[in-house]
Formats: sequence, C-alpha cells, structure tokens
Amino acid sequence: MTYKKTLLEVRDLCTGFRFNDEFYNAVDGVSFTLSSNEVLAIVGESGCGKSTLATTIVGLHSPLNTSISGEVMYRQENLINFTEKQYEKIRGNDIGVIFQDPLSALNPLMTVSQQIEETLVYHTSMTKAERSERALELLAQVGIPNPKRTAKQYPHELSGGMRQRVVIAIALACKPPIIIADEPTTALDVTIQAQILDLLNDLQEETESGIILITHDLGVVAETADKVAVMYAGQFVEVAPVQELFENPQHPYTRSLLKSIPQDDSEDDLHVIQGSVPSLINLTRTGCRFAERIPWIPADAHEENPQMHEVSPGHFVRCSCYKHFHFEGEAEQ
Ligand SMILES: Nc1ncnc2c1ncn2[C@@H]1O[C@H](COP(=O)(O)OP(=O)(O)O)[C@@H](O)[C@H]1O
Ligand SMILES: [Mg+2]
Repeated sequence: MTYKKTLLEVRDLCTGFRFNDEFYNAVDGVSFTLSSNEVLAIVGESGCGKSTLATTIVGLHSPLNTSISGEVMYRQENLINFTEKQYEKIRGNDIGVIFQDPLSALNPLMTVSQQIEETLVYHTSMTKAERSERALELLAQVGIPNPKRTAKQYPHELSGGMRQRVVIAIALACKPPIIIADEPTTALDVTIQAQILDLLNDLQEETESGIILITHDLGVVAETADKVAVMYAGQFVEVAPVQELFENPQHPYTRSLLKSIPQDDSEDDLHVIQGSVPSLINLTRTGCRFAERIPWIPADAHEENPQMHEVSPGHFVRCSCYKHFHFEGEAEQ
C-alpha cells in the first residue's frame, strides 16, 4: 500500500457573500481531509459552491465582502487567518491552482517562459539560467512537443489545450504538494480532456501530491478519483471512496446525478434532475436542501437539519431518508 500522509484538513468551512448587508453562505459547513497520493473529486451542478470552496482555500476572497469561518489546516496553521502576503507565499509553492479558463489565468503580455519563470523567481533562489532550463523541462513534462519554440510564444499564439498545459506547468513549477484543479478540462475538447487528465495522473505518481479535482463530469470522476464528495447548495451531501459511490450511492441527489450520465449503449433519453439548485438568497435555513426536488418522499420524512451519517467505513451521507425508503418511488419520477 502507498504511504499516505494528511496534507490538508478542512473543518466546517463557511464562505458567505454579502448581499444587502447580509451574508449568504455559498460554502456552508464543508469538512474533508486530503492526503498525499489522493485525488479527491468534488462534483455537483453549477452554482453548488465548488469554485467558491477552491478560491476560499487559496485565499482569493477579500475580507471586505466575504465572511469566512472554520478551518483550513495546512502544516498546523489555519490558512483562513492568513494575510494576503502569507497567502502569496503558499499559492504556487504549496498549493498549485489550475482554473477552468486558461486564457484568463495567463498574462497576455508575457511569453510562456516568462510566466513560468516569474513563479520561480518568487518562490525559489534559482539563477536565471536555472529558471529557463526548468521552464523548458516543465513544458516537456506537460507534453508540449516543442518546448523551446513554445517558451517564446505568447498565450494567444497557442491552442486551448496548449494553454491549459502551460497553466498546469506554472501550477507545477514549484512541485506543490497540493494541487487544486477547478474544471481544468471543461473548456477543452474530449481528446485533449483525456490527455490533460492522464497528465495530471502521471504527474501525481511522480510527485505524490494530493489533488482536489473539481468537475461536473462523473465520467472524469470514475476514471481519476480515489474519493468523491458530492456538493449540493454549499454542502457536501455524500462523501465516499469512488467505487463505493458508484456502486452504492445513498443520497437522492447523488443517485440523480448518476442517472444523468450518458450510457454508451443506451438509446434512452438522459435522465434530467427536475428543478434547479436553490439560489443562495432563497435557501431555507433548516431542512434538507434537496427535499423540494424529490417529491416522492413525504416532507415530514426529512430531518430538520440533516447531519452526516457514516453508512459504512469512509462513506458518509447527509440524509436520513435512505434508511426509511429504498427509493421505490424513484422510477415514477
Ligand atoms: N464573488 C461572488 N459574489 C457573490 N456571489 C458569488 C460570488 N461567487 C460566487 N457566488 C455565488 O455563490 C454560489 C456558488 O457559486 P460557485 O462557487 O461559482 O459555484 P460552482 O463553482 O459550483 O458553479 C452561486 O450562487 C454564485 O452566484
Ligand atoms: Mg465553478
């Protein structure tokens, strides 16, 4: 068995955005642990709070218009108390971040090599020659066919897939133990998507990093994740090892998501989850947030404030309905 050590411990993390002098939690009491050599996938529909969770971990919210509480423990320190200066030291060096849109992550006025080297200037004491050599090495590592040529190019001269490889090269430049990838392949076509995911997996084998992979694509999850967290309306509603989640999903939301995956051999219409993620402002403060989307379970069967139950080792679900109903009604949906 591969040795695993805990890299990041998130406890009861809440991120609230200000609206009309009140704060609304886009992330509402999220807890998880990330270990080395582990890929934790976070899935859920658009608007569930996945990106807010990622940006909160790396300190990208101004305290002026957000309210953040809880713990993001890294090396015995709670990152949420960090100043912007302290976060700058962590980002890139300890936590590499890959966002969905490579164009907005890159500086249009700097060459690829300059952008990779900028990170190295900030976080290492490498000489100029060492930095440009390391930039070429990184470009080769992320599968860029002609690193010398690409190093001198500007972002607009590259294809989407190449740009995302450059973003990954920058994220990996300092060999961070933690990588957060927020929908890293959503903007790319299917073939390139598969290549980028293979690349992340290969790199992880080399560096033993822990990866948080945010995606709304359960196909990607099945292929890459070790552990999966299903997010709904700011909360984790189910967390389980990947195989367990696919074979034995418990939360009605997880089951609906799984039913909405296209099957290669099926002519059936895709299952569509009725309704939509509630907006932050309309969120009910108590009760199950998914209840209104599962009409076949009587309202009084839902817990007041559903807590996480451990249904089997490592498998948690925020719902008590699974105990009482075996989803006989699902087919009628
Ligand atoms: N900077 C912001 N200010 C106010 N509300 C925001 C901000 N960013 C995200 N939100 C709101 O937080 C919720 C979660 O958004 P987001 O984290 O982007 O979800 P996801 O990544 O799962 O699609 C949404 O209701 C969104 O409108
Ligand atoms: Mg997002």
